[in-house]
Amino acid sequence: MNVLLRFKLEARKQENSFRQLTLTKGEIDFFSNDYLGLSNDSELNSSTFSGSTGSRLLSGNSNEAIQAEKCLSKFFDSESALVFNSGYTANLGIMSSVPQRGDYILYDELVHASIRDGIRLSHAKAISFKHNDTYNLEKQIAKISGTIYIVVESLYSMDGDMAPLRKIIEISKLNNAFLIVDEAHAVGVFGWEGRGIVHGREVIDDVFARIVTFGKAFGFHGAAVLGSDELISFLVNFARPFIYTTALPPSDYNVIRNRIERSDIRDRQQKLHDNLNYFHSKLNLSTKSEVNSPIQVFQFGSKDAVIEVSKKLINEGIYTKPIFSPTVPKGEERIRLCFHSYNKKEEIDTLLNVLNDSKF
Ligand SMILES: Cc1ncc(COP(=O)(O)O)c(C=O)c1O
Repeated sequence: MNVLLRFKLEARKQENSFRQLTLTKGEIDFFSNDYLGLSNDSELNSSTFSGSTGSRLLSGNSNEAIQAEKCLSKFFDSESALVFNSGYTANLGIMSSVPQRGDYILYDELVHASIRDGIRLSHAKAISFKHNDTYNLEKQIAKISGTIYIVVESLYSMDGDMAPLRKIIEISKLNNAFLIVDEAHAVGVFGWEGRGIVHGREVIDDVFARIVTFGKAFGFHGAAVLGSDELISFLVNFARPFIYTTALPPSDYNVIRNRIERSDIRDRQQKLHDNLNYFHSKLNLSTKSEVNSPIQVFQFGSKDAVIEVSKKLINEGIYTKPIFSPTVPKGEERIRLCFHSYNKKEEIDTLLNVLNDSKF
């Protein structure tokens, strides 16, 4: 970790203001926010549905949270893990707290809104580079010096394409930068049993932090930042979206744990990839998405054409989400398809009939 961050953590210790997660259950409760005692009301809740009653640093920590984080760090091969209530707050947390005033954040122009919002809250200087363009990244990085953070997604949610991770790592290492990779759409789908692209490509040690989410392929909600013990300790101390919010209910941490420990993930991954292979074997259109990406994106040249294709799909009972500006630039309106393990061959055939007939 950067020396300035280490210094800030040390200063907290010197000032006796170092934050650590402790378990406080069993004590007489004059500190939780459970004002009406509903979090444990037996009529409303079985024990599995009790609320957390406060922030993780106050009354909201639980054995369930601690065990889930242990499990996550083991599963994703990370020194440590910290659960956030959502991917949005995980990105807000890391981006707003870690890069310091005077540091630089170099981010891909297509990173998710949660990363951008986190960057806006940061005091660091932020510069975007062209999407997946490592020449442009090199050009931008050559102009700056000091502490640099590079932020990318391993699989992009609006284009379904992957970051050129090996080249980005090479640039990051050459410039002593800290690489942050959002794996929101990659975990579950890629890597052994869904451990993601960074894990799958065996580049964990080249990445400063990973953000994984449980609301997408894992079908639940919540997220985690994966990184060193020091990074997690820093987030516990300085990431406001972690500190100033009520923790997830204890049962949610158990669900997160169960989701990553499921024995059928590989089977589901295989079915999803089989569906994608089948789709591509019969598709006559080109897509800029990666062939094995669950997100497949089609542009038809104009917004009107996108609307027309979307209507045809709806007539066949296929609901997709057409994406218009400002989510994507004008002229790049698109149909965004998300594939699943449970899509049937007949459904894919119907989809293909409409798409293959839709040349403009
Ligand atoms: C790349 C990326 N990161 C983070 C998020 C936010 O995750 P969550 O929905 O868990 O807040 C999303 C959600 O769409 C995303 O696409």
